[in-house]
Amino acid sequence: MDVRTTGTPLLEWSGDGLAIGLFEDNGALSAELATLDEKLSGTLKELIAEAEFKGKDGSSVATRVGSGSAVRKIILVGLGKAESMKLDSLRRAAAALARLAKKEKCKTLGISLPIWHDNAALTAQTIAEGAELALYKDTRFKSEADENGSSIEQIELLGLGDQTAAIALARQIASGVFLARELVAAPANYVTPITLAETAEAIAHDHGLALEILEREDCEKLGMGAFLGVAQGADLPPKFIHLTYTPDGKPRRKLAIIGKGLTFDSGGLNIKGAGSGIEMMKTDMGGAGAMLGAAKAIAQIKPDVEVHFISAATENMISGHAIHPGDILTASNGKTIEINNTDAEGRLTLADALVFAEKLGVDAIVDLATLTGACVIALGDEIAGLWSSDPDIANQLTQAGELAGEKLWQMPMEEKYFEGLKSPIADMKNTGPRPGGSITAALFLKQFVKETPWAHLDVAGPVWTEKENGYNSPGATGYGVRTLVNWAIGV
Ligand code: BES
Ligand code: MN
Ligand code: ZN
Repeated sequence: MDVRTTGTPLLEWSGDGLAIGLFEDNGALSAELATLDEKLSGTLKELIAEAEFKGKDGSSVATRVGSGSAVRKIILVGLGKAESMKLDSLRRAAAALARLAKKEKCKTLGISLPIWHDNAALTAQTIAEGAELALYKDTRFKSEADENGSSIEQIELLGLGDQTAAIALARQIASGVFLARELVAAPANYVTPITLAETAEAIAHDHGLALEILEREDCEKLGMGAFLGVAQGADLPPKFIHLTYTPDGKPRRKLAIIGKGLTFDSGGLNIKGAGSGIEMMKTDMGGAGAMLGAAKAIAQIKPDVEVHFISAATENMISGHAIHPGDILTASNGKTIEINNTDAEGRLTLADALVFAEKLGVDAIVDLATLTGACVIALGDEIAGLWSSDPDIANQLTQAGELAGEKLWQMPMEEKYFEGLKSPIADMKNTGPRPGGSITAALFLKQFVKETPWAHLDVAGPVWTEKENGYNSPGATGYGVRTLVNWAIGV
């Protein structure tokens, strides 16, 4: 599918489908739309009346136009109230109209949506993103293609000037989101720690990034006892991934992005029981998926920042080699951890990854992790929890997420709750009481960062969706990639 801008005026555009955005409670048609309506013998007004179309956010309708017209189908898409339009309203509108255009078998599609805050480039990027993300379909594990194979071949954005660069940016970001979706959706017999390392290798090879894979012995030398404790129950080898993007000139900032990379989380000896959603634990590398997706996008965008992409990848399995509940592990910063629950494994892998990242001398560290069920209970499955002791990073991520259409919400770093992690025998336990479980998880991670500004995103909810939701289809969402890209390039 090709997306481009066109200088053709709305009234002269010809093709299969013409999609028009309308605000809610917007009584009369604009002068231009009134003229278009006349040209189409009143089709627009008829469609609005018949479908009782009110312009509500996310609504869309289509109708056929009489033969002999330059346009075959008219699609109306609702934008909600003009005052409250967010950038993501455009992304969602583009998704809704693209889905409808595909259903209506439009091969060529013209899109006329309003410009957001006088920023035609960001508007074009966002519309292109919404359409591309919505039309993504994962058919890798189907032996036969679905019937309705007809697809949109050409999208033209009207009234935005020439936005070639913005559309290229949307494509680069979408390629990262697709990679994250593919990695998260693929089950644990397809995506293993080895696959994650190979994916990093492919990105390094395709885009000229530096790659270091630390094997078990390398991690032993670095004293990564927390990560290796999790890995010791698995037959598959752990892989510590460190991918580096370096800009041509002097980097403006040096950043580290860490993704939790549990390719399967059985819980270990504190095994997840029936009804626990254990079969969804293939998604426990959602942080690493977002990290690799962001790497792929950033490698193409080439911003003037240095970015280190890190994941301590392993499975959490049971075997005669697995850690016992009660074991004490020593992390690479020398801190000792009493394992009172083997299912709180993500924080153990992240502990050594955080210590590693800080040693690189970066200006900021962000980790993404499907860390706790407690965060899903607190914020539901669309919103990630954000913890940071650095207000600047928290603000940067909040802004990056807002423009990306990825919801996140800052949660308290309540130091008092660290009492819940006190151990009588070691420096800390890995699990606190059930109340505030996502907060004690964040406090645990904080023990492994000394002074580098750091933020933690608990993405256990939003990496997956059961229902179609805007530009996300049921399955993996690729959550995090767009926020990370925005944060790295500095929007
Ligand atoms: N990977 C899970 C968290 C998770 C839960 C992700 C649900 C996605 C959906 C994590 O490793 C885990 O098992 N956390 C435990 C922590 C508990 C033992 C303190 C949890 O949330 O139950
Ligand atoms: Mn677990
Ligand atoms: Zn886990």
